[in-house]
Amino acid sequence: MEEKNLEKSSNHLIHPDPVLNPESSGDSKFTHEKFVFKPAKIEKITVESPKVKSFYLKANSLDLPLPGQFLMVWLPGAGEVPMSVSDAGGGSIRITVARTGSTTEQIHKLEEKGTLFVRGPFGSNFKLDANSYLLVGGGYGAAPLIYASKVLSRAGKKGVYAVGAEDSSELLFTHEARKHGLEVYVATENGSLGHRGLVTDIMNDFLRRFKFDSILTCGPERMMYKVLRQGLKLGIPVQVSLERYMKCGFGICGSCVLDPIGARVCIDGPVFDGKLLLKTDFGKWKRDPSGMRVRV
Ligand SMILES: Cc1cc2nc3c(=O)[nH]c(=O)nc-3n(C[C@H](O)[C@H](O)[C@H](O)COP(=O)(O)OP(=O)(O)OC[C@H]3O[C@@H](n4cnc5c(N)ncnc54)[C@H](O)[C@@H]3O)c2cc1C
Ligand code: FES
Repeated sequence: MEEKNLEKSSNHLIHPDPVLNPESSGDSKFTHEKFVFKPAKIEKITVESPKVKSFYLKANSLDLPLPGQFLMVWLPGAGEVPMSVSDAGGGSIRITVARTGSTTEQIHKLEEKGTLFVRGPFGSNFKLDANSYLLVGGGYGAAPLIYASKVLSRAGKKGVYAVGAEDSSELLFTHEARKHGLEVYVATENGSLGHRGLVTDIMNDFLRRFKFDSILTCGPERMMYKVLRQGLKLGIPVQVSLERYMKCGFGICGSCVLDPIGARVCIDGPVFDGKLLLKTDFGKWKRDPSGMRVRV
């Protein structure tokens, strides 16, 4: 994406990338504009894996999302789903969609020049002001991490990108992470590439060999729980990008609430400081679409 056009940072939080954070346009967290669906033309579609496609959306009228933030994406007749931003700049926003159910299946059927409707960006972003980072992703959790890796690389920071999947064909953004200058490690459950097993199995190895100031993680909740435990044991702060069932996306419906502290993932997250999550049901319980508490 064209870097010089990364002109407008709308976020209320300080962004470490001088390119992404010129003058702030103020706290737009609650502006009316954010709640209004805007048409976003699909400029390009790339197939990332058998079940995952990326959609490059022309979204000039949207505030520039920061790594970790998400959009509510609506396909009329199909449904509305939250999606992390996997890249942004030059008036274009990329989302990376895994085909997991009915709405995402319909989104996958769209073609270039088709239209999605988006509102946002919503939620908190990764803090990227430390010097060295470990990024640990599983499945489509790689989406916000790869955007973070771009910002880190622009700021000249070091990082390791460790991703896991069931099969090598499902590993996301490894080439892009290398392009951003990160060291890349992979784990596959069937042993088709890299370590056979889970990405968390190889984490101790990196933690011994490199010094990290911060860990970012996004992916299956059980994976993130392990990452959090391993990181905190060594005194490394962990930022966790959490997923909960979302309806409104801006803090009023309570669907995404974390018990017992009442933090809402859509507005207080999705990126949380890991220590705070240890005071919640993170890694153990979540709410289903009807609001019932179910095991993670
Ligand atoms: C902050 C956030 C960021 C996300 N980022 C991405 C991303 O970058 N790429 C990606 O592929 N997916 C992402 N997701 C998950 C994505 O929203 C769901 O996979 C999608 O909503 C599934 O919808 P469906 O109708 O296709 O499937 P369904 O059959 O309705 O559901 C499939 C799975 O998705 C969950 N899900 C369904 N609707 C929602 C919803 N409104 N909110 C949260 N979970 C839901 C269900 O609980 C179920 O586990 C993100 C979710 C959140 C909360
Ligand atoms: S999705 Fe409605 S409060 Fe979070």
